[in-house]
Amino acid sequence: MRTPLIAGNWKMHKTISESVDFVRKLIPFMRESPVRVWIAPPFTALQAAAEAAKGSSLQIGAQNLHANEEGAFTGEISAKMILDAGASFVLIGHSERRLLFHETDAGIRKKLERALLAGLIPLLCVGETLEERTQGNTKKILTTQIEKALGGIMLEKLEKLVIAYEPVWAIGTGETATPRIAEESHQWVREILTGMFGNSFSKEISIIYGGSAKPENISDLINQEDIDGVLVGGASLNLDSFIQMIHLGKNHDNPLFH
Ligand code: PGA
Repeated sequence: MRTPLIAGNWKMHKTISESVDFVRKLIPFMRESPVRVWIAPPFTALQAAAEAAKGSSLQIGAQNLHANEEGAFTGEISAKMILDAGASFVLIGHSERRLLFHETDAGIRKKLERALLAGLIPLLCVGETLEERTQGNTKKILTTQIEKALGGIMLEKLEKLVIAYEPVWAIGTGETATPRIAEESHQWVREILTGMFGNSFSKEISIIYGGSAKPENISDLINQEDIDGVLVGGASLNLDSFIQMIHLGKNHDNPLFH
């Protein structure tokens, strides 16, 4: 049974007080919601947001981590620090990290291993650029990204893993993948996972969609059989639209969620 997941990625937005205010106002709307709700605020607001979320089902996570346990890495944040701040998950391999900060598949693999070792839930982001899609390389790119991140890792360690399929051309552009295009990629991701870890694993794992997800398109997206939720950037910054997405997330027709 895959419980729907609505995850907000705030990127480089919101101060500590803005984050706490958002979390406090959000929690009453989450009561009795069957949907999982996660938020990744900036590092500075992690602890305060986690504190504000205590006693609720809202999970707070980080947007990045360093692959090493500790050391002379000026400006970096370790898995232990993230856990210490009260976070439970961490985004790994977001396309902005891959493209703007030159993260490689090998580096992403190291971060994923570190997160697992520390007990943080990895939210692994994968997705193709527009160029890769137009050249017909979407499946190849997804296969490489997933195999390099997860190949050889023990199945039992990946039970809580969540994968976000985020076509780079749809992130922050207002251009959403059509539900059909998104579903095709989600199916492919599940096929890759079946090949690597077997059928029962790939059936259980949550694969969420990211890229201009918003209240207007969330229902069509998550009604697809293999889309188990959304990773939301822009539309997660506004409380009303995020709450709307949580409500729409629980009212959809996907039989897997009933
Ligand atoms: P967006 O961002 O919803 O603003 O497109 C999604 C993401 O980067 O995770």
